[in-house]
Amino acid sequence: MHSRMSYDDPAWEDEVRRLCADLENVDGALMLVLHGLMDRFGYISEPALILVADLLHLTPPQVFAVATYYHEFRLEKPAQTVLVLCRGPACRVQGMVALRKALEHRLGITVGERTSDDRFAIESSGCLGICPHAPAMLIDHQLTGRVAVDDLERLIAERSGVQV
Ligand code: FES
Repeated sequence: MHSRMSYDDPAWEDEVRRLCADLENVDGALMLVLHGLMDRFGYISEPALILVADLLHLTPPQVFAVATYYHEFRLEKPAQTVLVLCRGPACRVQGMVALRKALEHRLGITVGERTSDDRFAIESSGCLGICPHAPAMLIDHQLTGRVAVDDLERLIAERSGVQV
């Protein structure tokens, strides 16, 4: 597993070229490259999207169409901490609504938004697949079960640089 790379790194173009190498005529090349970009950079920047189109002999709108069709691809830099709340029925029964309200109140944003300092974003998802451990969340892609308001308070305080 690689560590994340930034598009601010001058070598980002070389990395995109490496991801596209030898894939010009391969079936599903675009999906492979877009997944590669997500893995390496955490999102697909506009310059990267344009470069991928060029390297795979596609048009930028063709790449854009695929990148926006699938939920797993992002075209914006993610917040430092992304909190994904489960919308599934088991989590709703186990207190997810109260958890969501507490989180929205604490951060001053609603689901689908991010804080103005880019530290936190709240998103939601269908069932995360760990219903017996409801209420469940993804915290930076980590499945986390039996989440309590106190856990979130602690996490937010820690990641905001506040002493707890
Ligand atoms: S309903 Fe939330 S994990 Fe299944």
